[in-house]
Amino acid sequence: MSSNSFIPLSVPNLSGNEWKYAEDAIKTGWVSSVGSYVDEFEQKFAEFVGVKRAIAVVNGTAALHISLMLAGVEEGDEVIVPDLTFVAPANAVAYCNATPVFLGSEWSTLGLDPIILQKFLEEKCELKDGQTFNKNTGRRIAAIIPMHTFGNPVDMDPILKLCQTSNIPVIEDATESLGSLYKGAKTGSFGLLGCFSFNGNKIMTTGGGGMIVTNDEKLADRAKHLSTTAKSDPIEYDHDEIGYNYRLVNVLAAIGVGQLEQMGDFVETKRRNYDCYIKNLSNVQGMQMFVEQEHSESNYWMYPLILETITPMDLTRALGEKRIQARPVWKLMHTLPMFKHCESFGIEDSEEIYNKVLCIPCSTDLSEEDVNRVCKSLEEVANNE
Ligand SMILES: Cc1ncc(COP(=O)(O)O)c(C=O)c1O
Repeated sequence: MSSNSFIPLSVPNLSGNEWKYAEDAIKTGWVSSVGSYVDEFEQKFAEFVGVKRAIAVVNGTAALHISLMLAGVEEGDEVIVPDLTFVAPANAVAYCNATPVFLGSEWSTLGLDPIILQKFLEEKCELKDGQTFNKNTGRRIAAIIPMHTFGNPVDMDPILKLCQTSNIPVIEDATESLGSLYKGAKTGSFGLLGCFSFNGNKIMTTGGGGMIVTNDEKLADRAKHLSTTAKSDPIEYDHDEIGYNYRLVNVLAAIGVGQLEQMGDFVETKRRNYDCYIKNLSNVQGMQMFVEQEHSESNYWMYPLILETITPMDLTRALGEKRIQARPVWKLMHTLPMFKHCESFGIEDSEEIYNKVLCIPCSTDLSEEDVNRVCKSLEEVANNE
């Protein structure tokens, strides 16, 4: 790329067999909601994540919505969600007529802090008849959605342990962490259900799409049923409950199969470029890259840079002038108008992360020259040049 060409935050990489498979789907006429690519995508995805079953859906938000219903979340329940997240899990809770409770994240993973979870459960909740209730509101805590922020695995072990004793089903929001490892196993495989997104900015994309994964065959069957209009007869239009048309179409699944073939390369490239950023920025004052935990291997989907002396918005503007795109972290959920009435707990570090972190370009087609230009630009800003 020339020295002042635009460097976007993240663009899709469709350099594999995506065209070939999509063309095949189109030529055969199987472009819609059933077809061999849907089956192949689900089967290969389950193998990749290391789970028994995968169910393709229309996007990650739909995956979360169906998963919450499968976990038994009902009207009037509460669901624990990190305050620091993209809005989708909180919205999915609201779709179930339940209320999100927002908990704090920790700096070491950028995800839900297990110590804060423990405090919340001990101080604010009580166990009654084998179920956990919020003492203030009297509502049942029906599920929890830990999210692997920017691909960095949450500390799952203590969260799983706490949830087991409190009888709270875990739905992993692994939408950002396809290919990441926590203690040797893929994220998304730890919870009762795991959810993925194939939105255009994700490590692999189908344009739009999502996946639910689980080791529970019955839940998998129900996920398929609910996401395919709850049709109970293969021929007659018989539907046995209110279902959803959340199916991923065959032509997009074909793209997914092509993308999945490249996942190993995508993760390797993301990690290699990330290392370049770490090295190049090691001497830049007031800016450092976030680093994964020792027991984790992040897919480094997004590249979070921690800032000491400049705000994320000021740096976004300064980089914009140099034709480099960057994005701040999401606004905390409890500050958004539709969730202002919801409880938040232990969110001091989440506030700090929001105030100090900026995501810098991370596409898999970034050249060494691009990475060097971004780093040089950051250094110039740090030095007020
Ligand atoms: C943390 C998180 N959860 C859920 C989603 C929802 O995925 P989708 O956009 O495919 O609905 C996304 C991404 O978009 C996300 O980043």
